[in-house]
Amino acid sequence: MKAVIFDLDGVIVSTDHLHYLAWKKITDQEHIPFNEEVNHLLRGLSREASLEVILKQTEKSYTVEEKKDLIMLKNQHYLESIASLSPDDLLEGIPELLGLLKDKGYKVAIGSSSKNAPYILKQIGLLDFFDAISDGNHIIHSKPDPEVFLKAAEMLGVSPEACVVVEDAKVGIEAAKKAGMKAYAVGDALNSELKDGSLLDLMLIL
Ligand code: BG6
Ligand code: MG
Repeated sequence: MKAVIFDLDGVIVSTDHLHYLAWKKITDQEHIPFNEEVNHLLRGLSREASLEVILKQTEKSYTVEEKKDLIMLKNQHYLESIASLSPDDLLEGIPELLGLLKDKGYKVAIGSSSKNAPYILKQIGLLDFFDAISDGNHIIHSKPDPEVFLKAAEMLGVSPEACVVVEDAKVGIEAAKKAGMKAYAVGDALNSELKDGSLLDLMLIL
């Protein structure tokens, strides 16, 4: 093992609930049923794929332009909510884990579906910390496709087999396994049968 690739939302920082609240404004406006259960299905998906999942809950059909507008409006709501993010919003244990990995000489990367990843990393003071940032701006296919993790490995110059992934999304665990990487879970991803272990298991082998 030479490198650890971290998902961002729900692993490094708890933006997952902010995504939920931003989508909730859209679904309320459109009178589409939406709850935390549906929200779990959106973890790791691109904004476009997320909207498709949400629209399965309604009979109403939307044009390509209408969908674009909804996605833009959701992102505006979301950007308002992440404007106040700061280093205090790092999830528990993450600063210590990141420090330990660097001390031990592992490379560290971000592998996130989010196009807002660079902005979030800036807000939480980690933009210059990672050896590579592979995010929604670099990929065509979002998780469960392995593209974002394979891109991260390529950016690091490390073979996929020598990378491990930390994820909170079941589709993220699936993507890591498709990339030929070990996958360690936090949060909702602990329910994935494909995971190699929990974050605690990873910490025990460092
Ligand atoms: C992922 C989140 O990290 O990023 C998803 O888990 C989100 O919920 C996706 O849809 C895309 O994010 P953004 O910031 O580009 O809208
Ligand atoms: Mg996530």
